Order: sequence, then structure tokens, then C-alpha cells
Amino acid sequence: MGDCGLIPQEVDGETSIEVGYHVRVTLQGRGYATEAAEACRAYAAFQLGLRRLIGIIKPANLPSQRLAEKIGLRLERATRDRHDNEVLIFSGDP
Ligand SMILES: CC(C)(COP(=O)(O)OP(=O)(O)OC[C@H]1O[C@@H](n2cnc3c(N)ncnc32)[C@H](O)[C@@H]1OP(=O)(O)O)[C@@H](O)C(=O)NCCC(=O)NCCS
Repeated sequence: MGDCGLIPQEVDGETSIEVGYHVRVTLQGRGYATEAAEACRAYAAFQLGLRRLIGIIKPANLPSQRLAEKIGLRLERATRDRHDNEVLIFSGDP
């Protein structure tokens, strides 16, 4: 169906844990990513005790931004990734 999980990412010299998600095109729009990302948020909070969770999202990727907001992340800033592409950093205390 896809994947969803937590992965360390270095952004502007700081390492944070990102929640990442991908759903097969034919299965999108059914709430699967919301369910999986919410489970990862809860795992980050209650099993790992993290105080910061991020999403690294391209400006044009509105479904991913909406998903980040649905699990409580908020737009923090715009920056550039290691390929020099503009990305938005969504973050929050999970
Ligand atoms: C992002 C992705 C994982 C979402 O998967 P999904 O299973 O379709 O997500 P959900 O069904 O849980 O819905 C996510 C939300 O995005 C919203 N959404 C969908 N398309 C949207 C659009 N074009 N603009 C704004 N919001 C949109 C949905 O309406 C839903 O919000 P809602 O519940 O308030 O209606 C999926 O689009 C995907 O795999 N994209 C390609 C990979 C990718 O970009 N991954 C993220 C990299 S940062």
C-alpha cells in the first residue's frame, strides 16, 4: 500500500526525526496516510518521548502539508534541502 515511518534527517545542520509517508496512487484519498502518520506521531510521543517531530515537504505538495497539519505539525520555515530545492519544514511537539 505504501510506507510510513520515522527517520532522522539533517536540516540546516540540525538532526530531527521526520515522519515520512507514501501511499500508492490508486489507494490515496481514503485516509490511510492520516491513520499511519497519526500512529507514528503517537509512537514518537509515547514510546520514544520525542519533543520534536518534523515534516520536510515541497511547497507544491499540498496533500502532504495538509497531512502534516492533521497530525499537529505547523509550518516552521522554508529552507533548502541538500539538492538545493526549496522545502518547507513543518514541526511540532508530538
Ligand atoms: C501525501 C500522501 C501520503 C497522502 O496520502 P492519502 O492516503 O491520500 O492521505 P489521506 O487520505 O489520509 O488524506 C490526507 C489529507 O490531504 C488532503 N488533500 C488531498 N489532496 C489535497 C490537495 N490537492 N490540496 C490540499 N489537501 C489535499 C485530503 O483531503 C486529506 O485531508 P482531509 O482529511 O482534511 O480531507 C499521498 O498523497 C502520497 O503518497 N503522495 C506522494 C508521496 C509524497 O508526496 N509523500 C510525502 C513526501 S513529503
